Amino acid sequence: MTKSLKELIAQTRIPVIGAPLFLVSGTDLVVAQCTSGVIGTFPSLNARPQEELPKWIEEIKRRLTAYKQAHPDEIVSPFGVNLIVHPSNERWEGDLEICAQHKVPLFITSLHAPNKVVQRVKPYGGIVLHDVTNAKHARKAIEAGVDGLILVANGAGGHAGTMNPIALINEIRSFYDGPLILSGCISKGKDVLGALALGCDFAYLGTRFIPTKESMAVEKYQQMILDSNATDIIYSPFFTGVPGNYLTPSIVNAGIDLTEVQTAKAGGNVRLSKETKPKTWKDIWGAGQGVGAIDSIVSVRTLVDQLISEFNEARAKLFSHPL
Ligand SMILES: Cc1cc2nc3c(=O)[nH]c(=O)nc-3n(C[C@H](O)[C@H](O)[C@H](O)COP(=O)(O)O)c2cc1C
Repeated sequence: MTKSLKELIAQTRIPVIGAPLFLVSGTDLVVAQCTSGVIGTFPSLNARPQEELPKWIEEIKRRLTAYKQAHPDEIVSPFGVNLIVHPSNERWEGDLEICAQHKVPLFITSLHAPNKVVQRVKPYGGIVLHDVTNAKHARKAIEAGVDGLILVANGAGGHAGTMNPIALINEIRSFYDGPLILSGCISKGKDVLGALALGCDFAYLGTRFIPTKESMAVEKYQQMILDSNATDIIYSPFFTGVPGNYLTPSIVNAGIDLTEVQTAKAGGNVRLSKETKPKTWKDIWGAGQGVGAIDSIVSVRTLVDQLISEFNEARAKLFSHPL
């Protein structure tokens, strides 16, 4: 186990990272996650315009420091920022510079291999975790010097992969013994234990944090997650050009023909753009297949406490197994 991973685990109450969620994770969600003892993250693009980004980071730091002072015996977990490393994201290099100047402790990078991020943040001790959906991208990220890999399996919310989590973990573990974080459909404490049993070090939860009191998701979106099952999730490149998982009822409500969504090809014509309405993410809501296991809108603290008790219960049950 690497030193940085050991340190990260020691700074959580349960090895969980709250995944960055476009238009959903704001300062309240991140602060609630960190003060509840899990790592909180947000996409830099949620702080908009770019001038808001340093303000968000300063606010999060200030609130976490104040909480720690008021509760010196509690674990306060570090926070992280997600950078979409892609030429289509004109902000990413500027966002990286802002984050580095503020010595953000953790980075989550998506899409291109994060060489520049690693070079910029390693000198001050920043940790870089990179999203991958297959072994080829995992090798590239390892070459770039990342501290750990987030394995985005099938069924995950947002731009999910297509591989079964067990296949993905086993394949990547065969050549990488560094930190692995499992992403996709993790909603319960027993699922977190399952991720550890499969050889991962952390679980990455996205959809489960959408229906929380501190998330920026509107009430109808939160309720739709409670009302939905895995069969209500559609995987399609229709909205962004990259295949992702979305709530079918939100597509129907927006008046879009489902057949077009079902038959869209990756890299094909994207029918929605920044200029058109409905807008992807704002009107068309992203969620993973784990929605079927989510049945309450709770505060982040309640959710994390629940995850911990479910984790401990599942562990005790496993130890008492007659094998
Ligand atoms: C609404 C939504 C928005 C997302 N936005 C981002 C994002 O901006 N950047 C990113 O790297 N991943 C994003 N993701 C993916 C999550 O970070 C994470 O990989 C995924 O939610 C985990 O699967 P789960 O939702 O089944 O827990 C998003 C996912 C959802 C559901």
